[in-house]
Amino acid sequence: MDALAEAVVAGEPADVLERIPVPDAYTAAHTRVQDAGMFRGVEDKDVRKSLRVGEVPMPELAPDEALVAVMASAMNYNTVWSAIFEPLPTFAFLKSFGRQGGWATRHDQPHHVLGSDASGVIVRLGSGVRNWKVGDRVVVATNYVDDQDPATHADGMLGGDQRAWGFETNFGGLAHYAVVRASQLLAKPEHLTWEEAACNPLCAATAYRMLVSDRGANMKQGDLVLIWGAAGGLGGYAVQFARNGGATPIGIVSSDRKAEIARDLGCELVIDRRELGRIGSDPDVVQSAGKKLGKIIRRECGEDPNIVFEHVGQATFGISVFVAARGGTVVTCGSSTGYDHRFDNRYLWMRLKRIIGSHGANLQEQWETNRLVRRGKVASMLSAVYPLAEAPEAARGVQLNEHIGKVGVLCLAPRAGLGVADAALRERVGARGTAPLMVGGPLGAGR
Ligand SMILES: NC(=O)c1ccc[n+]([C@@H]2O[C@H](COP(=O)([O-])OP(=O)(O)OC[C@H]3O[C@@H](n4cnc5c(N)ncnc54)[C@H](OP(=O)(O)O)[C@@H]3O)[C@@H](O)[C@H]2O)c1
Repeated sequence: MDALAEAVVAGEPADVLERIPVPDAYTAAHTRVQDAGMFRGVEDKDVRKSLRVGEVPMPELAPDEALVAVMASAMNYNTVWSAIFEPLPTFAFLKSFGRQGGWATRHDQPHHVLGSDASGVIVRLGSGVRNWKVGDRVVVATNYVDDQDPATHADGMLGGDQRAWGFETNFGGLAHYAVVRASQLLAKPEHLTWEEAACNPLCAATAYRMLVSDRGANMKQGDLVLIWGAAGGLGGYAVQFARNGGATPIGIVSSDRKAEIARDLGCELVIDRRELGRIGSDPDVVQSAGKKLGKIIRRECGEDPNIVFEHVGQATFGISVFVAARGGTVVTCGSSTGYDHRFDNRYLWMRLKRIIGSHGANLQEQWETNRLVRRGKVASMLSAVYPLAEAPEAARGVQLNEHIGKVGVLCLAPRAGLGVADAALRERVGARGTAPLMVGGPLGAGR
């Protein structure tokens, strides 16, 4: 560990951090451009082969940026996409970003430092940053925007150059240091550990926009909300938002353990997708699985779902459109099983349903989400913790859908359980309000 990182871990004050030089290189989980073709024709695209942990050069800091010493990060599905180089190698994003010139050229490197979540300590600020100071403890929002684009001021997700940090930009969070724009910084929820805090921003805020925001499904009390993957990263937060907002969360999962978790999180009805038989986009399969699912929901809840929370994609999208209530909404932010969706449009138009595309969250939505986390109203979905050296192993678990909720990665934090500065709130909200699923991973066992 370099001297600056050691000082951060020791909790040294801002004036000490400011005096210690920034290292020339740092440890990071990254992919390499020369590996981009390694999975061509390979069936099992094992991310452990492409995701490397090693030294990369430290970039210079732009005037609107902060250098964050990363205490913890979290695994996201986008790291799996990056590491299998699909649907296209992320080096294409870096290249096109670099073509803008100026500070953007730094992003076009032969290595891509991944990771779209982080908690940590600010160690340097660009000359144009206001509102933050060295030593501040932060979490990092994923949305990377151009604040000089007029569209950004209506909705940060609509700016033409909006990017996902650590996926469409370089210098992400699975590393000892991360370079972020000041417009990504949020105060760390201080009743949470570093790893509990790190895993919320991306998935919680994406779920918030999808369900709660008026740019998403604009959920209201009494709505029936059907949530695919209710014990997964996005789904676990969606269940909590639905529960908190007076809606009825209905979870779909694939194992007894996940069913138990979905119930504990607040699902009033949990359906094991194994009960639905084959799931897929073939019209006959959609009809048979959709009818089975609709029947269970009507039997147990008396109505069809007003909102379907979608991210699974090809395998489930047709079913989601089929089961949504007349006038209901299917809100989608992803396509884990394939983006070439197929659905029967008759069910959409004749029953006046809507499909809403959603992506990430703007800073306001991200701030609202963080506020709920900071007040102990939304718990971290952390279930396991890995050291940075084992980030490839953590990514493999997510790739194989072996994980539950969120998988944390310790970057500079020497062990799990550190970083709590508001013990009173932690005590008040109890295990249920912090990380109720935390059980395992190489560093989490026994907690
Ligand atoms: N656009 C955005 O801003 C954004 C943000 C975050 C995530 N995403 C995308 O959203 C997707 C999910 O992300 P995540 O972090 O929630 O991933 P995750 O933690 O892996 O959870 C996904 C869940 O989907 C369910 N699932 C997997 N395969 C399925 C299948 N064939 N049929 C039905 N359900 C299936 C699994 O639950 P069960 O096995 O229990 O059913 C799993 O828990 C990814 O594609 C990710 O890239 C997009």
